[in-house]
Amino acid sequence: LKAQNTMTINADQPQNKISRHIYGQFSEHLGTGMYGGLWVGEDSDIPNTDGFRDDVVEALKALEIPNLRWPGGCFADEYHWRDGIGPREDRPTRINTHWGMVEEHNEVGTHEFMRLTELLDTEPYISANVGSGTPEEMAHWVEYMTYDGNSTLANLRRENGQEKAWDVKFWGIGNESWGCGGNMEAGYYADLYRRYATFAKDYSGNELYKIASGFSDDNYGWTETVVEQAGWMMDAISLHYYTIPTGNWEQKGPSKDFGEGMYFAGLKQGLAMDEYVSRHSTIMDKYDPEKRISLAVDEWGIWTDPLPDTNPGFLQQQNSVRDALIASTTLDILNKHSDRVRLANIAQTVNVLQAMILTDGNRMLKTPTYHVFDFYRVHHDAMLLPLHLDAANYTYEGEHIPAISATASRDEAGTIHLTVTNLHATDPQEVTVNILGSDADEISESRILSADAVDAVNTFDNPDRVAPQSFEDYTLNDDELTLRLPSKSVIVIGVE
Ligand code: AHR
Repeated sequence: LKAQNTMTINADQPQNKISRHIYGQFSEHLGTGMYGGLWVGEDSDIPNTDGFRDDVVEALKALEIPNLRWPGGCFADEYHWRDGIGPREDRPTRINTHWGMVEEHNEVGTHEFMRLTELLDTEPYISANVGSGTPEEMAHWVEYMTYDGNSTLANLRRENGQEKAWDVKFWGIGNESWGCGGNMEAGYYADLYRRYATFAKDYSGNELYKIASGFSDDNYGWTETVVEQAGWMMDAISLHYYTIPTGNWEQKGPSKDFGEGMYFAGLKQGLAMDEYVSRHSTIMDKYDPEKRISLAVDEWGIWTDPLPDTNPGFLQQQNSVRDALIASTTLDILNKHSDRVRLANIAQTVNVLQAMILTDGNRMLKTPTYHVFDFYRVHHDAMLLPLHLDAANYTYEGEHIPAISATASRDEAGTIHLTVTNLHATDPQEVTVNILGSDADEISESRILSADAVDAVNTFDNPDRVAPQSFEDYTLNDDELTLRLPSKSVIVIGVE
């Protein structure tokens, strides 16, 4: 074992709250994410509640998802909310031009989506249309959903079955407005943002939390212009970052059947999130030193080549232990920056990109990434603890990344939770953790997710190949905790 990893945690110096909303999810009308994955309709043989499949809802509910982003993505800027209300048989058929040119029958509209948020006990994050919609259309959607008084739109909502106005907080104004959302310039979008945001009103005590469309990766100019010109009217600006293992959008790399090279490349690309978040935050600091405006990383995750023999517009991929470690290390980065990052959404919840759940007809499985989100529930709304990490390197063909990544937090009951990842493909790692400022001396919970191969995945025939086990390989003496992590693993451990 390599004992060269040391960690010091200051348990008595909590920094800021890790917003649970960092653990948000994203369900776009894309491929079989919504239709087939979440929604099967009331008449389906697959057991469902009001059209949403029970097995998937039950599994997702256990993750305590804090918010769910909908209806897109790129889809949001061609979505017209009136298409999705009223009797289903009367709803129009549109074409989902971004995702496979398939028919969109609008079976899931506002009322169905809001029902899903109830079933999952989560908050809606509505991504509204700027690219092909009008300020009036957006204003009317807000009124339809949130006005509790007497108006034609509020009454239409009642006619459609929802008496009480819904609580809707998270409201996105455009998505990737520099790309699929309208191919705009930053200054033009900033003008539009102010215009649309002006008419998205707060009704009946509901307060919208308005999220501007930010850029992806390293386009810092967009963030600078939009925050400078419209920052005073926004609560958050988004950042999208997808991990492309090869770094090449044309050939991203496979999601299964790969070796250590592709494993290492994926992890290394994933760690770039730290630089992007840091540098976008630094620009925001210039205009917003008090950090009032959040950075909303509302699309992130690994994006690989589509699985063979699938519609490439459906973005279907497998999910391996590598992807689970991309999730854990990304969440560590977002936690570390949680003084600025207060909202994030992994892309996407079911069957699309880095999903929690895969379905095939009436079967479903939990992916390795699902289990990471389960482990990291301990950090929801917990206080971030300062953590100094001196980690060994994981070197592959002359390139280095840290072998260890971690988050420490303290929850309301005073329990300290650590999530620790060993990124190394072959070497176990010993980590010595000094916990200062605490008399905690008992382990309350410890679980591990690891695998026998860098590309290990769960399949419908073997759904628990990568599944949590109890973690016992530690010693706790006074305030020193020693962890022995096998290669390619992530643990969660509680000390109280
Ligand atoms: O998540 C898939 C797509 O990626 C989203 O629709 C879009 O916003 C991004 O480009």
